[in-house]
Amino acid sequence: MVNFFLNGQKVQYNGSPDSGLLDYLRLEKKITSVKDGCSGQGVCGACTAEINGKPRLACTTKMGKLEDATVTTMEGIPEQIRNLIVGKFSEKGAVQCGYCSPGMIIRVAHIFREKTILSRDEIFKAISPNLCRCTGYIKIVDAIETALTEKQENKIPTANIGEAFPKYQSIETALGKRPFVNDIQLEGLLHASLKFSDYPRAKIKRISTQEAESIEGVERIITATDIPGEKNTGLIFKDWPLMISTEETTNFIGDVLAVVVAKTEAIAREAVNLIKIDYEVYEAVTDMHDAILKNAPLVHNGQSNVLENCKIKFGDPEQEPDKAAFTYHSIFETQRIEHAFLETETAIAIPIVQGVKLYSQGQGVYVDRRQIASLLALPEEQIEVEQVSNGGGFGGKEDLTVQGHAALCSHLLQKPVKVHLTREESIRMHPKRHPVWMDMTLSCDKNGTFTALKLKAIGDTGAYASVGTKVMERVVGHATGAYTVPKVDIEALTVYTNNIPSGAMRGFGVPQVIFALESCIDELCKQGGFDRWQIRYDNALENGSKTATGQVLESGVGLKKTLLAVKEDFQQAKFAGIACGLKNTGVGNGMIDESEVKIEVLSESNIRIHHGWTEMGQGVHNMAIQTLHEETGLDPQIMEVVVDTAAGLPTGMTTSSRATALVSKAIIDATAELNEDMKKNPIKNLVGKTYSGKFFCDWTTKPGEKTDKPVTHFSYGYATQVVILDDEGNIEKVVAAHDGGKIMNKMLFEGQIEGAVHMGLGYALSENLLMKDGKPLSYKMKDLGIIRAKEMPEVKVIGIEEKDPVGPYGAKGIGEIGMVPTAAATANALCNYDGKRRMKLPLAPIN
Ligand code: FES
Repeated sequence: MVNFFLNGQKVQYNGSPDSGLLDYLRLEKKITSVKDGCSGQGVCGACTAEINGKPRLACTTKMGKLEDATVTTMEGIPEQIRNLIVGKFSEKGAVQCGYCSPGMIIRVAHIFREKTILSRDEIFKAISPNLCRCTGYIKIVDAIETALTEKQENKIPTANIGEAFPKYQSIETALGKRPFVNDIQLEGLLHASLKFSDYPRAKIKRISTQEAESIEGVERIITATDIPGEKNTGLIFKDWPLMISTEETTNFIGDVLAVVVAKTEAIAREAVNLIKIDYEVYEAVTDMHDAILKNAPLVHNGQSNVLENCKIKFGDPEQEPDKAAFTYHSIFETQRIEHAFLETETAIAIPIVQGVKLYSQGQGVYVDRRQIASLLALPEEQIEVEQVSNGGGFGGKEDLTVQGHAALCSHLLQKPVKVHLTREESIRMHPKRHPVWMDMTLSCDKNGTFTALKLKAIGDTGAYASVGTKVMERVVGHATGAYTVPKVDIEALTVYTNNIPSGAMRGFGVPQVIFALESCIDELCKQGGFDRWQIRYDNALENGSKTATGQVLESGVGLKKTLLAVKEDFQQAKFAGIACGLKNTGVGNGMIDESEVKIEVLSESNIRIHHGWTEMGQGVHNMAIQTLHEETGLDPQIMEVVVDTAAGLPTGMTTSSRATALVSKAIIDATAELNEDMKKNPIKNLVGKTYSGKFFCDWTTKPGEKTDKPVTHFSYGYATQVVILDDEGNIEKVVAAHDGGKIMNKMLFEGQIEGAVHMGLGYALSENLLMKDGKPLSYKMKDLGIIRAKEMPEVKVIGIEEKDPVGPYGAKGIGEIGMVPTAAATANALCNYDGKRRMKLPLAPIN
């Protein structure tokens, strides 16, 4: 028996002394403000609680150690301190997805008790035990610094477009009161755990479940034969089976062979470990170069390992190296990295009349619905998917992972079922950033004007297609970067292997190719003696220029302004690297970009916005609210946002930096009628009315389509970043100038760029999910190489507003571009320091 104080109340614990405090708080005491981000690895800090006055990790604290201890969670922090810190977190934009926020705030509350004044450096150091994957820590430090030095202001913020209206639900999220999927409590909820393949490529000879079934509390074990509908899922190609059955061959170590449903997660996991599998193990194809050899084993029977070969050719660059004054050729390689969203995958499904309702943290509720309907052989109308704002996505929650298993189990058992992945399982299962191999040649004339680019790229898309072909199409479409290059010969192969699939991740292929291109540019500068800023300015895209795909950019190209904005910082630095980037808004490439919304007047003091986009920290709900406020003048405090397929609003994935543009355009459309009605009626007379709006873009061009005027994407964003090193070669500062078209919310804009720069620096310097023989070398979060607060340099964000002809108020997507030039600028900075050209990411350190 263990006696201790929890939030000031004496409590008695009678369970196992080896159980963890995190499970006790979440499962027994239902305190879900303490989050599980790393499944007991003691790395992320999301479970921070105060124990005997010190911040400690609940996941590594054993219950047996708590005799006479005082344990304080968010709920036990003195209200005045809690309100002050949470208020500043909301006001300063420190809450993006908010999954890290409660743990971070517990640590901050401790700082308040210990000290009243800290320098910024001390604050960065103090919060370093806690990971944040969204903010780059800068807004968190701003919030703490302000809270330490200022009184609470209590001013009511306004929400017009451009203003720093705080993030929707940021207070509830920071307090840990707004539930993530894994925090949802339901009566009679069952828990499911997945049995993964032990080998990347093996025939399943037998699945023995008897021993697992005998465990008390196990409700049922489900295998592939229980799937009533189409077994395969997939966003573009239906090649990813929900489960592999006997006599079939696995494709990677994240393939699921069986699911155990049990009364608790612990029982389900215990039973999964007792499932015995007989395998016939085959050699896995894990090298993308081997995979394209003639006699390579086929990952998918009867189908080439080359899933797509995307090509573009204008002119004949083959001739150019001879004619050009300067040519640089090299081979560049980029690595596989993990999204590491702090909230791992979780889904809850409940049976509803004739179907299933799903609580999902995925990046597209309508796409989830379509795939689940297909799995269960039910009409889409019988599946309802409600989006629960998630704890980070960055592209890694586009593919169906656990949603399908939760829906299947619930449907078969007619009971509510939750599937939750541990950190290890999350690393094992969801698609990563594509490793890309690039053979690039760039030429220029004697004045430094680019003349030709040749690129052959190969991307390892792993076991399943995911959106790999689209990623490699972006490599092609962005190969000339932010510059005019008149002659190009570009080819990009998307290749199957038995590795963990690669799919969408912030930047979507573009950071890879920009790293190669911008490295070549600096090498041409060395050859020709060109100024590194000037060559970029002279070749920069401007209104009327053509992209790599031949799209003429009619207007709204703010690239040169971003270059001018960083010029002084770059030229005054002793050691610095510079790189530019562009990034599409919208999927384009001949695919539809569409958005529909409904605005429901529920009462005089409650307006509900329905849309289909996923809130994953980036602020799409703010964009909806701020647009509605801007258009109608209605009070933003009375607005709420719901994302649920029950609204019937066809929407694709939240991807391609497009959600802001698409949701705002649809809301502007809906408010035309609402404003007409409001001219004649007070809002109370409109109660019960619903206003609909949509945006539909079907005018982009498929790759390879014959046309004189290709339109690959409806819009692009532009950026220049400079990475400045100190005398020891350490990164001192990043200057990021970004053309956002119209900056919809300055605070969220800066937060997106700062967070992306943090991710970009990790990509450049330390992040790497190393695999051998189809398996990660480590499943530990600490080995992913994520940059901690104390390692972050200063980031200066400069906003440029060159209006886009299509985007709402001229806005362009900014969710991804923040990390597009970062690795390239870092590579160029390191080379500027020690003269060594690095061809691989992560970059070799300075010796
Ligand atoms: Fe910190 Fe998302 S806001 S992890």
